[in-house]
Amino acid sequence: MSVLVTGGAGYIGSVTVDALVDTGEDVVVLDDLSTGFADSVNEAARFVRGDIGDSDLVAKLVDEYGIDSCIHFAGKIAVGESVGNPAAYFDSNVARPLRLLDALVGSDVAQVVFSSSAAVYGDPSTVPIPEDHPTDPTNPYGRTKLMFEGILSDYDAAYGVRSVSLRYFNAAGGATLRRERHDPETHLIPLVLDAAAGRRRAVVVFGNDYDTPDGSAIRDYVHVADLAKAHVLALGYIRGGGTTRRLNLGTGSGHSVLEVIEIVRQVTGRGVPVELGERRPGDPTRLVADPREANEVLGWASTSDSALRFIAESAWKHRD
Ligand code: UFG
Repeated sequence: MSVLVTGGAGYIGSVTVDALVDTGEDVVVLDDLSTGFADSVNEAARFVRGDIGDSDLVAKLVDEYGIDSCIHFAGKIAVGESVGNPAAYFDSNVARPLRLLDALVGSDVAQVVFSSSAAVYGDPSTVPIPEDHPTDPTNPYGRTKLMFEGILSDYDAAYGVRSVSLRYFNAAGGATLRRERHDPETHLIPLVLDAAAGRRRAVVVFGNDYDTPDGSAIRDYVHVADLAKAHVLALGYIRGGGTTRRLNLGTGSGHSVLEVIEIVRQVTGRGVPVELGERRPGDPTRLVADPREANEVLGWASTSDSALRFIAESAWKHRD
């Protein structure tokens, strides 16, 4: 029995593969390396370079490796890019995953853990955000995640596919063997670290006129190792007969962009040049999780790894 991990060469995927291998799982990674890195894949996992939308390949892998479940990470992740190029997001995050899902269903694999996002909520009316908060994404990225959650629900009703959609808030931090590597980098913490390291002239703060105490946008940063643990638990839950769920993964605490910059200054002991810029299209003001349901259903909670200071320290330690 093995688990198929799509996007297992990416940032959260590769850390999760490490955690799965640690628990003795037999892991098959399917990744086209469009954004991931082959050397991020744990050596104990089988690595297959290929397209998740290649139904014949997926069916062959299920057959060959006795796959009983899938953790689906592969997809595009940049909010800003999705506004300018929605076609690429609907292709990578909906069309191709749908072919993956059909191939899984066709091979009787009906247990899925899906990388969803806090971006499904849009600009929330209440914070912290519970899972039953209305969903109204403010960008195509969030819309693609919500669409695939909907597809999974429909596939449960019709074909008995049980799934856990994990709505990540802001994944961050470095893990023992892995670090955040995106090219181009768009995420706040690695960009601030680059500025501290002198590799980037400055960090541009996208908007200082939000309705928040310091005017910059607020996010709930959660350490990638904590996210990885949640996937291991979600897989166990779904294999144990758990019902389809959508669960927030966050800490319940928010930090502003300016707070993140200040913590990085403290942790690195370096200056971080800052410029003020326009708001980034599609960015909500404040995203903070109510993480209680993940605790009740999976027994998951973020740990001290997700303290902003540790996130910054671990990301600094594991940078290039
Ligand atoms: N930001 C800046 N300057 C930068 C980069 C980011 O000010 O150079 C700000 C953004 O405007 C935002 C915050 O820093 O307010 C965090 O931005 P990121 O790009 O690091 O992350 P996002 O919040 O846009 O998105 C991330 C994931 C999404 C996920 C979302 C959920 O990339 O997949 O968190 O909270 F949906």
